[in-house]
Amino acid sequence: MSSTVVAIDGPSASGKSSTAVAVAEGLGFRHLDSGALYRGLTLVAIRAGLPSPYDEGDILRAAEEVGLELRPVLGSFQVVLEASGEILAEELRTADVTARVSEVAALPAIRDWVNRHLRSAAVSGGAVVVDGRDIGSVVFPEAELKVFLTASPAARAQRRLVQRGDQVDQTWLTAETDALAARDRADSSRAVAPLIQAPDAVLLDTSEMGFVEQVDRIVALARERGITPGP
Ligand code: CDP
Repeated sequence: MSSTVVAIDGPSASGKSSTAVAVAEGLGFRHLDSGALYRGLTLVAIRAGLPSPYDEGDILRAAEEVGLELRPVLGSFQVVLEASGEILAEELRTADVTARVSEVAALPAIRDWVNRHLRSAAVSGGAVVVDGRDIGSVVFPEAELKVFLTASPAARAQRRLVQRGDQVDQTWLTAETDALAARDRADSSRAVAPLIQAPDAVLLDTSEMGFVEQVDRIVALARERGITPGP
């Protein structure tokens, strides 16, 4: 592997993506969001009108047709449809995509496709901070630093409600905690590349930690190991 990789894995709403963005900024690396690519494939499947249960070949053919790709930009990568030039952003985070992405991400050929794209993006993008579920365990087992970020289900549900600007009362908290637990179960129990902590990953439980502290801790770990953007 010719690029420098910091891997941040963890369950939904553990703050991986926002933490990875800030860590990348702190280290002068590019941020690579693996979930965005799974969401991109899910959006392509929805737009193509493909029926569930999904056929992985159909999804990959539809992705090929619209030219789904990762494009390096300053500090990160965009998910783009090269055929039309469309840049995918908020449309990757709709409830419809979120409800179907775990099913798409459980398909082996889909995971191979995403992993190939992540590895070639890392090579073209130089030093990267990659966040996901299986980055340290499967995609970049040689990553220079692996962090497993977690928090209690209640803390994660609370953060997600605040992030969405939703009400934070007991009924909503319970519903969100249940929805997160269901996605955790789907991601942890699937046959292919389940969410697990790599044996050499540093565990960071952020239930009682503020955002700045968790970012600083990871940047400090990287510096302690002498990880820099490199030549
Ligand atoms: O933001 P949130 O953590 O909810 O989700 P995400 O990181 O955007 O990922 C969306 C979904 O893609 C997850 O629920 C997983 O099913 C899947 N995923 C995966 O299987 N492996 C990855 N490396 C990243 C995401």
